[in-house]
Amino acid sequence: MKEKKRRKRALLTGITGQDGSYLAELLLAKEYEVHGIIRRSSSFNTQRIDALYQDPHEKDVRLFLHYGDLNDSSSLNRILRLVDPDEIYNLGAQSHVKVSFDTPEYTGDVTGLGCTRLLEAIRELQIRPKIYQASSSEMFGKTAETPQSEITPFYPRSPYGAAKVYAFWMMVNYREAYGLFSVNGILFNHESPRRGETFVSRKITRAVGRIRHGLQERLYLGNLGAKRDWGYAKDYVEAMWLMLQREDPEDFVIATGKTNTVREFCARAFARAGIELTWEGSGLQERGVERGSGRVLVEIDPRYLRPTEVDTLLGNPAKAKKKLGWIPKTTFEELVNLMVDSDLRLAENEARLNEIVSSKASRVRS
Ligand code: NAP
Ligand code: GDD
Repeated sequence: MKEKKRRKRALLTGITGQDGSYLAELLLAKEYEVHGIIRRSSSFNTQRIDALYQDPHEKDVRLFLHYGDLNDSSSLNRILRLVDPDEIYNLGAQSHVKVSFDTPEYTGDVTGLGCTRLLEAIRELQIRPKIYQASSSEMFGKTAETPQSEITPFYPRSPYGAAKVYAFWMMVNYREAYGLFSVNGILFNHESPRRGETFVSRKITRAVGRIRHGLQERLYLGNLGAKRDWGYAKDYVEAMWLMLQREDPEDFVIATGKTNTVREFCARAFARAGIELTWEGSGLQERGVERGSGRVLVEIDPRYLRPTEVDTLLGNPAKAKKKLGWIPKTTFEELVNLMVDSDLRLAENEARLNEIVSSKASRVRS
């Protein structure tokens, strides 16, 4: 009798996050069996993958979720033994740079040691999956050169960046010490309509939508002059997958090769919603003002400044282009537009819902 070929099996930490949801979609489209580790939470944390969820009682289920935590070695061991994956994507992290200054120990534990726990579980179980680590351009920190490539030295400027540097070198060490196929994708900032709402891109596009629909008056930001190399998350998860399809384990920078300020992101986002911003004042007094009406729409709130900042990031994706055949498909302008369009729709729905609620309330009162 012909033996049925086993599907490729992938295990994702951080499947409920922005990248995890796009990567799960990509892998399911490629006919993988996808296993994701989710954390217990008192509120729902699976919204980004709800569309992918399959009832385990259905036939041909290919998405499986397991409770576990990067802080909990025994759960990682158990899940790895159960799943026996061909590929592991370690995307789980406390990923917010500003929050890492408030929770440095916890961030080190999840974002740094979490990677070591996974590597040790692989070693103990004597399995040989390929493993991808979500490394970050934040590791370049106080940049030694511009643009940054695979050989640029690291100088992290946050507890998050320091934790990612530790995980980066653990991946290299397990590759060299035990011959594991363990690779780092050094990804520059990538965004999408699924981006968490406290990262600056989404904070801006969410506010633009709400201001346009009269649900919010003003947007408060920190450092408007910071420059980031912003790409589209959907393009970037393809690069993750490509890195694990190679014969040889190597690390790659994934970026667009272009950089823009937070101020520029902001102005373009408002423009997409038909609002022209001009900038007045300087330093903490700088403000974004609507041309014509004079309405102040953007102000600085020092609470969003960081104790140490990464001023400029600009990546050189030449190696990824040459060896992975990867190039970013979405421009900065297209990225801002698609995020604003999505958040305009969200705000429109929110406004409509508010209207229904208030008209019902006034009917009850009258
Ligand atoms: P994200 O949206 O913040 O998602 C983080 C994921 O990690 C979530 O699924 C979260 O679960 C999970 N997680 C947090 N703590 C955990 C723990 N203790 N155990 C297990 N899982 C845990 O981040 P993202 O933007 O998708 O980024 C994915 C990865 O790439 C992260 O490692 C990030 O540091 C790194 N990275 C991101 C970028 C970027 O620009 N997006 C650039 C470079 C590197 P909950 O949903 O339950 O919170
Ligand atoms: N979050 C936030 N909120 N950032 C602001 C604000 C604000 O109100 N105002 C200005 N900024 C500036 C930050 O100081 C920073 O310079 C820049 O906007 C981008 O901030 P974030 O969107 O929070 O991203 P990040 O660059 O700190 O970190 C992201 O990218 C890294 C890759 O370089 C995260 O996704 C990390 O997980 C990722 O590794």
